[in-house]
Amino acid sequence: MRLDRFLSETTPLTRSLAKRALKNGEVTLNGDPIKQAATQIDTGNDEVLLNGERLTLVGLRYLMMHKPADVECTARRGLYPRVIDIIDVPKVERLQPVGRLDVDTTGLLLLTDDGQWSHRVTSPRHRCAKVYVAELADPMEDETAEWAVEQVAQGILLEGEETPTHPAILRFVTPKKAELTITEGRYHQVKRMFAALGNHVTALHRHSVGDVVLPDDLAPGEWRELTPEEIASF
Ligand code: URA
Repeated sequence: MRLDRFLSETTPLTRSLAKRALKNGEVTLNGDPIKQAATQIDTGNDEVLLNGERLTLVGLRYLMMHKPADVECTARRGLYPRVIDIIDVPKVERLQPVGRLDVDTTGLLLLTDDGQWSHRVTSPRHRCAKVYVAELADPMEDETAEWAVEQVAQGILLEGEETPTHPAILRFVTPKKAELTITEGRYHQVKRMFAALGNHVTALHRHSVGDVVLPDDLAPGEWRELTPEEIASF
């Protein structure tokens, strides 16, 4: 990798600021001062120091966050803080949410800069199960609840769509609280499924994605790296 690119990948410096740091003699390569931005370096073996500090490339990253309400999954700045605003890691803007949650939805959010892995998790072909807990405006009991469970198991035609949802699993915890397991990630899917059942979601929380479950000790706004087993589970 070119030295100026290596500097911009491993520090907050842009390519032009990296060139300036080189010119100013702030960089050493294997102990010797270096000024040529075009120098090719072996990122695995060469030792590059900026003002005496060793630089290393950030590898692919895999994180989980307990997304709080009123935080957005978008990349652009908007009305609310973004999830990447509350994660303190270098080059945080490279992390992409793996399937978005609405601004008012809480719970498990995965983030990565590995596009292929993200695709494996989100592609409907892979049928990765996501479990949501929804609080409902209106109680659903007895035959209504049974009917809803059946509808969800068969697939529901959402407003404005032409193909029904994949068969999903609905389980009522109480008449106003239900757990829904889906294997797709259509736009506002859970809220629209309950709307199609004549109800309204007043609060939504994602409990798990595939085998990865939100840990009880991860408070809203907290995040941690995924374990190698969690990464490999998709
Ligand atoms: N379905 C929704 O309606 N909202 C979410 O945030 C996630 C799934």
